[in-house]
Amino acid sequence: MPMVFACSVSHTPGIRAWPDAPDTEIKEQLYKGFSVLRKKMLATEPETLLIISSEHFTNFFLDCMPAFTIGQAKEYFGPVEPWIKIKQGTTIGDPSLSKRLLDACYKDGIELAYSHEMKLDHGTMIPLSFLDPTRELPIIPLIINAMTYPMPTQKRCYELGKTLYKALKSEKKRVAVIAAGGLSHAPGEHTHGKIDAQFDREFIRLIVEKDVDTFTSFTDEELESRGLGTHEIRTWVTLAGVAKDLKATPLFYEPIPAWATGCGLLCYD
Ligand SMILES: [Fe+2]
Repeated sequence: MPMVFACSVSHTPGIRAWPDAPDTEIKEQLYKGFSVLRKKMLATEPETLLIISSEHFTNFFLDCMPAFTIGQAKEYFGPVEPWIKIKQGTTIGDPSLSKRLLDACYKDGIELAYSHEMKLDHGTMIPLSFLDPTRELPIIPLIINAMTYPMPTQKRCYELGKTLYKALKSEKKRVAVIAAGGLSHAPGEHTHGKIDAQFDREFIRLIVEKDVDTFTSFTDEELESRGLGTHEIRTWVTLAGVAKDLKATPLFYEPIPAWATGCGLLCYD
């Protein structure tokens, strides 16, 4: 059974930590969009969620920073940040499916790192808190280094997506794939709060129009000029590879200064 559901979302911690900070109407639109995604996802009866997010120095630091890491744990604790106002607890994993995906990636020339001891931060927990708030479905976290140089190129992320597409195609389980990251933001920089809405809208347009050559050619310098957090669009680019045959429909985009991030939702059908 190929992937049964796919969506890309933003994961800024403010979505849960400071829910009343933005304009109420905009926040309600975003929450409604997440609700639409949840309904669509549940209608496909997924058995496992593969959540592609980015590193925030939660699991890895400068002593060891893999480009891509897939979780193989039996369960995952999170969120590690109690201040994001999501109840802490454990979510069960799917180590057998994770192992099959890992083996398929190795066979296809992408040697993912793997870990049996990963913790979940806002990058995974923000989408999970909307899509599976009671944490019933097993998850597999896949974490991309969008934190420190060197980072995997956009092309490499797209290639990983295509490899996962092939691996999931021969899979018996019904898998939902969620990408969580971006869009433009500059956390902790002197430009903190800067959002490049024009870039974000253009990036979403490129994803919708499947302009692979353009959205895989962004350089580190181009992304950094929109804020270091913009490197997290690697998660969306990876999912674009997994969902290369599906139509992408944007559900929401707004630059939200109160959360210092361009926030987007996009669904694949
Ligand atoms: Fe992030």
